[in-house]
Amino acid sequence: MRFLKKGDDKKSKPETGQASKAHPDLKVISGSQISGRQPQQQPPPQQQQPQQQNITLPNIKYKIAVASGKGGVGKSTVATNLAISLANAGGAVGLMDADAYGPSIPTMMGIQEQPKVSPERKLIPLVRHNIKLMSIGFMVPEEQAMIWRGPMLHSSIRQLLSDVEWGELDYLIIDLPPGTGDVALSLTQAIPLTGALIVTTPQDVALADVRRGVAMFERLGVPILGVIENMSYFLCPHCNEKTEIFRKDGGKNTSERFGVAFLGQIPLDAEVCTAGDIGVPIVAGHPESPQSEAFGTVAHELESVLEVHGDDDELTIL
Ligand SMILES: Nc1ncnc2c1ncn2[C@@H]1O[C@H](COP(=O)(O)OP(=O)(O)OP(=O)(O)O)[C@@H](O)[C@H]1O
Ligand SMILES: [Mg+2]
Repeated sequence: MRFLKKGDDKKSKPETGQASKAHPDLKVISGSQISGRQPQQQPPPQQQQPQQQNITLPNIKYKIAVASGKGGVGKSTVATNLAISLANAGGAVGLMDADAYGPSIPTMMGIQEQPKVSPERKLIPLVRHNIKLMSIGFMVPEEQAMIWRGPMLHSSIRQLLSDVEWGELDYLIIDLPPGTGDVALSLTQAIPLTGALIVTTPQDVALADVRRGVAMFERLGVPILGVIENMSYFLCPHCNEKTEIFRKDGGKNTSERFGVAFLGQIPLDAEVCTAGDIGVPIVAGHPESPQSEAFGTVAHELESVLEVHGDDDELTIL
């Protein structure tokens, strides 16, 4: 159930052609450096068509995209803390930062170094907080991360999947950029995703975007595994009183309207924000805190959804 046609990503943003200051082993290229193909065997870039065949990744049980219709709702925060919660529950977890326009996972996970390349020309994921991590941000210098040519983006997403030594994983959590753009399209073209998680905040304006996110995955044939409501309430650090700053239960009500699972609410909390900024996500730094418990509940609910639905193919497509 794919609606992308060959050449669709020609509509993507224009090329700047300046990836030369990237990590020497990780320049965004046509794939030749990592795949071992000779550059002269490549067609000129403008003639390259995105490859359509799927990458299967049989050693990874669940491939889960974290998405939102709207920016800044906490996808990356949820992706990192959820990944660590799943690892704390005994899972082998990888975290792939596919946010080509603002990769933030390395900062949130406290990673400064670049990944190494194995003798087989595979990228070796960095490991932090018990999570294997790769970021599209490793492939371009920071100042160029916002500008991508369509085929380049497509090929980089594929490299992050097939040219990385992910090993055996229970979960690969994939952090997407906001909205319904070409990264999600490239990803769904490349691998059969187990499903997508939609992160939202409780307000009406954010919820309108949830509908767009749900609609996009529906068109791509990707099941929605559930909705996570972030910044749901403020938990007073002194008296533990809950204050619903935004609309109450907006994400919950929306998930009910769409008939998808509601996986839980994450409080709005300064510690969650600071933890991401210093590179030690709250679940890693303060695993016993109420905030971490909230992420643990989401992880547990996700496990239940995956158990009930079983393998990729058995999940209900909306
Ligand atoms: N529950 C929370 N409590 C406090 N701060 C939060 C919470 N969730 C996220 N934040 C903060 O909000 C900001 C945006 O979060 P984050 O980067 O995770 O959002 P995003 O949806 O991934 O953004 P983008 O759309 O730009 O990728 C960050 O500074 C983060 O620390
Ligand atoms: Mg993000």
